[in-house]
Amino acid sequence: MRNRRAAFAATATAVTLALSLTACGQNSEGGSEENKGSSEGATIGIAMPTKSSERWIADGDNVVKNLEAKGYKTKLVFGEDEPDQQVSQIENMITQGVDALIVAAIDNKSLGNVLQQAADADIPVISYDRLILGTENVDYYASFDNEKVGELQGTYIAEQLGLADGSEKGPFNIELFAGSNDDNNTRYFFQGAMNVLQPYIDKKQLVVRSGQTELTQVTTLRWDGATAQRRMDDILTKSYKSAKVDAVLSPYDGISIGILSALKSDGYGTASKPLPVITGQDAEVASVKSIIAGQQSMTVYKDLRQLAKVASDMVDALLNDKKPEVNDTKTYDNGSKVVPAYLLEPVAVNKDNYKKALVDSGYYKESDLK
Ligand code: GAL
Repeated sequence: MRNRRAAFAATATAVTLALSLTACGQNSEGGSEENKGSSEGATIGIAMPTKSSERWIADGDNVVKNLEAKGYKTKLVFGEDEPDQQVSQIENMITQGVDALIVAAIDNKSLGNVLQQAADADIPVISYDRLILGTENVDYYASFDNEKVGELQGTYIAEQLGLADGSEKGPFNIELFAGSNDDNNTRYFFQGAMNVLQPYIDKKQLVVRSGQTELTQVTTLRWDGATAQRRMDDILTKSYKSAKVDAVLSPYDGISIGILSALKSDGYGTASKPLPVITGQDAEVASVKSIIAGQQSMTVYKDLRQLAKVASDMVDALLNDKKPEVNDTKTYDNGSKVVPAYLLEPVAVNKDNYKKALVDSGYYKESDLK
């Protein structure tokens, strides 16, 4: 156990700690009596970005479950996509004496000061799914191979349009969407997709009629589906009066659902005007249902159970003076240091393999998808 814990024990009695933790609203406390190691009784603070997307709710639950199974107490908070709120939530958890933090950032650059406070209190920090930028005070990063996510999306589009394998087909019309500009993952997803798509754009087999091809032109603040829907509406009105869109690169299911609404309002989804190929990410229930119904074309499934386990194992190792397992020590430079990472594999899912990937693996029940 790290020394800081002893210092805390001297300054905060177990009673005040317990009281202050219970006093705070969104608490999820627990901890089994079994499995007591040297980290016995430690409390882990978990800061998730929002409840507006089902994945983060699942992330929170999964991390709590993993940590409780190891005998930890947990405190789980959600930031409602407000960076300032997340900063004060983390500040509160530091004041309350958590022993480690797991943070999925809302704004990747807003946490420098608060993580300095964590470092001053010797509280280790795991960056969860999204890399926190511009601070040395991030110990480890648990995520997926984010560039690969984009590559899977780009590859799917190329294959569905019949562009792969040197074919000279086209030109096809494509529009590009990216995630929130304050999320470090956004540029990895976009880069991964453009690794595949750019050569076809260069050869004019793919045409972006809106002309919006730069990352700065295609981001979607806070990954908001309604924002994406408005942008797609606008693009359809301005650039597709006399043409049809054949593919849309969408980085995330919530955005895909917004884009689909815009397309349907514009008359897409009929035999004479079929929906374009449209990608996604997260395998959220609404999108898997949409895939089964033949609307969204694919999603990228990231097994959040595995991510929660990786992050929890990292905390457990750190609090027991062991080295967390990592599989990448090069890719994720946050501007202050290269953060050692454990990256999981994303999987492309469409109508053909969703049962195997999502149901057989126990991620969803068949009845969830009806
Ligand atoms: C990203 C995450 C994606 C998606 C998106 C919107 O950071 O990697 O899987 O969830 O946020 O929530």
